[in-house]
Amino acid sequence: MHTSKTVFITGGAGFIGSALVCLLLRETDWRVINIDALTYAGNLESLADVIDHPRHLFSRTDINNRAALDALFREYQPAGVIHLAAESHVDRSIHGPGEFIKTNIEGTYTLLEATRAWWSTLDSQAKAAFRFHHVSTDEVFGSLGTSGFFTEDSPYQPNSPYSASKAASDHLVRAWHHTYGLPTLITNCSNNYGPRQFPEKLIPLMLLNALGGKPLPIYGQGDNVRDWLYVDDHARALHRVFAHGLPGEIYAIGGHNEKTNLEVVDTLCALLDELQPRADGRSYREQKTFVADRPGHDRRYAIDAGKIGRELGWQPQENFTSGLKKTVRWYLDHPEWTAHVISGEYRHWLDKNYGART
Ligand code: NAD
Ligand code: DAU
Repeated sequence: MHTSKTVFITGGAGFIGSALVCLLLRETDWRVINIDALTYAGNLESLADVIDHPRHLFSRTDINNRAALDALFREYQPAGVIHLAAESHVDRSIHGPGEFIKTNIEGTYTLLEATRAWWSTLDSQAKAAFRFHHVSTDEVFGSLGTSGFFTEDSPYQPNSPYSASKAASDHLVRAWHHTYGLPTLITNCSNNYGPRQFPEKLIPLMLLNALGGKPLPIYGQGDNVRDWLYVDDHARALHRVFAHGLPGEIYAIGGHNEKTNLEVVDTLCALLDELQPRADGRSYREQKTFVADRPGHDRRYAIDAGKIGRELGWQPQENFTSGLKKTVRWYLDHPEWTAHVISGEYRHWLDKNYGART
């Protein structure tokens, strides 16, 4: 089996990580070592199509476990790391910030140190070719007013425990580049949506609540704005940055798809009305319910993705209409994925289908 390189993906059992793992196995000849602790957000069923792929190896490992990381580096000798493992949900960070500090800050520190220890053993050519790619969020830049866009030069103003922990991890990565010369890349991306997203995030939550006849809880007035990017477009951007980005650089990634939350929910309801009408013939819109606002709720995110377009030739392929239709179709066509998430069965998917092997 020919492989031109081995890469570590952390968080590869999560929503974006699993899309990236599948894309890399499909579009490169790389060997992918998928490192994930399998928290509630990790779902190996999302990797069902590739779990047995000869170039995919899954390791159930916490990024805070330095000894385990060192052993993985020694065994697989990667040419780079794409780091997605994180606690990712803002509401959870408000109710319990501790895990966010542990994984997003301390975990990134531990991973950086394990990477640096491995990287420092390489010869000068391999050292120069090595990449540590940190996958981050536009939320580190805080909140925009009604106009303007985040760019790579926007000042850091994180407002939630989640975004503060991601901001801290961005700073660590930047420092490891400037102090130790580790060839790092940072990407800051806007809101992702698509198949296999855990139903705590806006779009899958609304979708499943709608189908389940439950209320659709819209925070505040529903006029907060997010810039939506289809997950496979993000995965393509990560591949492009990892392969062609310049060490020490930052790339902002966004979908050019600004929508208020109300627009998102109304579009989703209209799609469901068309694709899977309610038994009583009424619209899913009737399930909309306005609830108390999220504390510290950021008003608007929007990305100027000009740099990655100009320098690396990346553009999103989906617009919000096409991407949302694909997403709704996927959830309607995969009720078992959702049922396993809701029942908790997804946490035992590997053992059930393949016997214990992680
Ligand atoms: P997710 O919550 O779906 O997945 C996170 C994955 O990380 C899970 O598989 C989980 O098991 C794993 N993980 C958590 N803690 C770990 C630990 N200590 N050690 C090893 N693995 C651990 O997240 P996502 O939405 O796929 O986001 C992936 C990354 O992209 C995150 O770093 C997030 O901050 C960033 N990001 C997300 C979005 C978005 O809209 N979802 C947008 C921009 C950036
Ligand atoms: O911008 C990138 C970020 O996008 C990522 O870094 C995060 O990991 C990801 O979770 C996402 O953060 P948000 O807070 O923007 O996403 P969420 O899906 O939680 O919420 C989107 C918007 O919808 C936000 O304005 C809050 C609102 N909302 C959310 C939920 C879950 C509701 O109105 N009702 C809800 O029930």
